[in-house]
Amino acid sequence: MSLIECRIIDLPKISDPRGNLTFIEGGRHVPFEIKRVYYLYDVPGGAERGGHAHKSLHQLIIALSGSFDVILDDGTQKNRFHLNRSYYGMYVCPMIWRELDNFSSASVCMVLASNLYDEADYYRDYGAFVQAQNL
Ligand code: TYD
Repeated sequence: MSLIECRIIDLPKISDPRGNLTFIEGGRHVPFEIKRVYYLYDVPGGAERGGHAHKSLHQLIIALSGSFDVILDDGTQKNRFHLNRSYYGMYVCPMIWRELDNFSSASVCMVLASNLYDEADYYRDYGAFVQAQNL
């Protein structure tokens, strides 16, 4: 899997003077069925999250509130994306090393995932990830 498959998905936005609404349907707005949702919050200034890759998990990362950067790396190429809108989702395919940093205060990072939590699906060692990517 390569960085070419990762992209920012423009999610539907229903603009309303009472407050905007965005919705996400698994298999329609994201290229996988959603089995898990988790979110990062109360992230202290200067903190970094991520620092791993997944063997088979697909994810959509959304800055529900505030902003942060997502750095994606397929072992050959590396790109930094700034997420700062609740209606943008960063689609991350399997076998991509990701890091998250530059969190603004009170930011919330929501992640939709294609499977339940499974530690065996992680590469937490960058060298092992690159080696597996080059097989
Ligand atoms: P991790 O995925 O390393 O966090 P991040 O990539 O955001 O920095 O997970 C941190 C800890 O939380 C780790 O001990 C596993 C646990 N965890 C769960 O139990 N369930 C989950 O769905 C997730 C994402 C993490």
